[in-house]
Amino acid sequence: MASALFSPIRLAGLDLANRIVVSPMCQYSADDGSATDWHLTHLGALANSGASLLVVEATGVERRGRITHGCLGLYSDDNEAALARVLAHCRRYSGAKIGIQLAHAGRKASARRPWEGGQPLAAAEDSWETIAPSAIPFGPGWPPPREMSPDDLERVRDAFVAAAKRALRAGVDAVELHCAHGYLLHSFLSPISNKRKDAYCGAMSARMRYPLEIATAVRAAVPKRMPLGARITGNDWQEGGLTPADAVTFAQALKDVGVNFVCISSGGISTDARPSLVANMNVEFAKKVKKETGIATRVVGLIARPKQAETIIAEGHADMIALARAMLDNPHWGWQAAQVLGAEVVRPKQYERAAPSLWAGATYGD
Ligand SMILES: Cc1cc2nc3c(=O)[nH]c(=O)nc-3n(C[C@H](O)[C@H](O)[C@H](O)COP(=O)(O)O)c2cc1C
Repeated sequence: MASALFSPIRLAGLDLANRIVVSPMCQYSADDGSATDWHLTHLGALANSGASLLVVEATGVERRGRITHGCLGLYSDDNEAALARVLAHCRRYSGAKIGIQLAHAGRKASARRPWEGGQPLAAAEDSWETIAPSAIPFGPGWPPPREMSPDDLERVRDAFVAAAKRALRAGVDAVELHCAHGYLLHSFLSPISNKRKDAYCGAMSARMRYPLEIATAVRAAVPKRMPLGARITGNDWQEGGLTPADAVTFAQALKDVGVNFVCISSGGISTDARPSLVANMNVEFAKKVKKETGIATRVVGLIARPKQAETIIAEGHADMIALARAMLDNPHWGWQAAQVLGAEVVRPKQYERAAPSLWAGATYGD
């Protein structure tokens, strides 16, 4: 039987050859927001992973929206030119479609790179003021962010639109909004981090207001044929936080403003969140969102084996699978999955001789 994982899917006007997506992954290797040669290496390799869609890492829509000094941004002409160079490089050697995740780190900004400990920057490290819905720190040892004023709300909304326009000029095929992992838009959605006294807080409908304003504004800037998506939270994994039912409510509202797909992730809202780190950890949430809203649904989180991914798609729990660490570990994950599942994948001509039909020695586990 034909593989479900390797069946095509259309998002808005974009045709994807299969259901495999390279999840956005921060590389902490940018220079004041501009992609570097590391991005040529990293994205250039993953553009030939066999995934039909490669999503560029969380990209700060304003300078202070970066997580670390090394995070990618799209707030300057230099950032835009550097991204365009990397995308042109990927296109030269790969037919994979390329998306970008637009983000604002909110109260989790101004941090050290993971390999420097990931803690908040000290003043001597050129730290910056963070902003959030409410002046509640991410956790012990984190500085309280400044509560966003109406001017901040407008500036950041405009920054999302401006960054989307820069991404279009740089040549992306799809745009995604980061509404998960405790960053700014997630922190508006979650009752853990949003305690405002204005129209952006209270019931879920009020907490969704700001992310939906941004989705609506970005939708207006992105051509209809181009998919707009959002990574959302399936579960805050914390008492009093967002639940799978909230994910359904938010996904439906996103769909209503013209968002074409969601990616279901979870966790990250505070240092107290206790995610259940088991295989397929977000699949139940994705299944619920897909069933109850009908929006094209991607799922991510501890999916690493081809047959595991195949089952999720074949059983209709999700429409697409995003993989992060499995792709770093094996940048040809999709090629090997194709072999395991008896499917075809396009290789660059330089690597065609590695096709299993030409190389009897190739066998991979499932
Ligand atoms: C190095 C690294 C960087 C990441 N950066 C991002 C990011 O930029 N945006 C995002 O939404 N998730 C990010 N994540 C989370 C992954 O996209 C993914 O959701 C998570 O790792 C779970 O999937 P996995 O089990 O396939 O790794 C990152 C993960 C890793 C390992």
